Amino acid sequence: MASEEFRPLQGMSDVCVPEIWLWRAIEERARALFFAYGYEELRTPVLERLSVFKRSLGAATDVVQKEMYAFADRGGREIALRPEGTAGAVRHLAGRGEEGLNARVFYVAPMFRCERPQAGRKRQFHQIGVESTGAPNPLEDAECIALQVDLLEAWGLPGAKIRLSTRGLPGDRRTVAEGLRSALAPHREALCEDCRRRIDENVLRVIDCKNEACRRIVESIPSPLAFMSADSRGYLDRVMAALDALDVEAEPDDRLVRGLDYYVHTVWEITHDALGAQNALAGGGRYEIALGRKAVPGVGFAMGVERTIAALEAAGVTPERFAPKGGYWLVSLGEAALTQNAKLARRLRRAGVRCGMETGSKSMKAQMRRASRSGAEYAVICGEEELKRSVVVVKNLTDASQEELPVSAFEARVLRAAQS
Ligand code: HAM
Repeated sequence: MASEEFRPLQGMSDVCVPEIWLWRAIEERARALFFAYGYEELRTPVLERLSVFKRSLGAATDVVQKEMYAFADRGGREIALRPEGTAGAVRHLAGRGEEGLNARVFYVAPMFRCERPQAGRKRQFHQIGVESTGAPNPLEDAECIALQVDLLEAWGLPGAKIRLSTRGLPGDRRTVAEGLRSALAPHREALCEDCRRRIDENVLRVIDCKNEACRRIVESIPSPLAFMSADSRGYLDRVMAALDALDVEAEPDDRLVRGLDYYVHTVWEITHDALGAQNALAGGGRYEIALGRKAVPGVGFAMGVERTIAALEAAGVTPERFAPKGGYWLVSLGEAALTQNAKLARRLRRAGVRCGMETGSKSMKAQMRRASRSGAEYAVICGEEELKRSVVVVKNLTDASQEELPVSAFEARVLRAAQS
């Protein structure tokens, strides 16, 4: 066991076998679906100027104020580890002129938030996300949600729920805040200490409070939508109609609040009951982010990979299902067989054939054990006797049947199969 000093930092983990097999399957299926939907991959730096996040997520948000790994680098520049992927993607697209204003990008990347670690909440976690830029368009929002539903289906994850609401137009913010403040005013003393502060600083966050007393009060007052303009409510209706046309089920939830300031119009969250307190599998919405002269409008989402994996495991999907399988394990007895097999293995591997072997001398038993652990379909045995006659024994590891054949015939057969 490594000493405390040499373990990963709190809230951060290594990802290794067997779990990595499930990670890879998730990523591969996501990439295939993004390709089908016309999204291109984007890889932005893990570190950005702090201002990129302050300007896009909002300087008063919890993520920026309490959760970011922000520091001055050796040159005294204020930088931060990215807490999410939208800001960097938009920073990049804003620099691509017209083309960036009508683009579809996806990312699979680590994110960092210095939150109090607990089940489902990590300090380094991973997001699979997309951003689609372009002027507000209800069909685009609906398609983005449909893509997520298709992603869940491709992953074989049942039981996720989509809750949908609207943040409204920026022009509605004041009216909504004032409406909520006056509705909450008579209940001020009954709210928790945090919410009494939130009434003045960021009243929407009161709607989101988990405290039982606060929740009861919030249920008794009108929802933020009641204070929004007809335009904002009309946009949400059109998103709902487009979702209906695409056959996507989403539950309207007036009290859904997303913790980032860049949202305009549609916001949504996907939750899963298997996840416990941190039950958000994904979050998304339409936004407008101004990092340069021109604001970039877009819509996107990010799914949490660790939480997706937890939900899949709760649904009985084991990593072992995705363990690498097939190919050959070359078993060598004696130095000369070892050299012959090393040369053979190299030729097969260069043709793309999965082929394993020990490079040191080991007992037959140890090599056969390794062969079956590797998931190989066949063990190919070469001892002194086989070497003398230029043959190998090919053993099927599933049904234990075996045949002897000239090594050249074995190689030709494998290479032929690899090419077809
Ligand atoms: P978010 O809701 O902050 O949205 O994060 C999206 C997802 O990332 C969450 O639903 C959750 O699954 C995962 N996540 C967040 N924090 C943690 C954590 N500490 N540990 C484990 N998983 C976590 C965004 O990040 C937006 N950028 C989404 C978006 C893209 N909106 C528009 N485009």
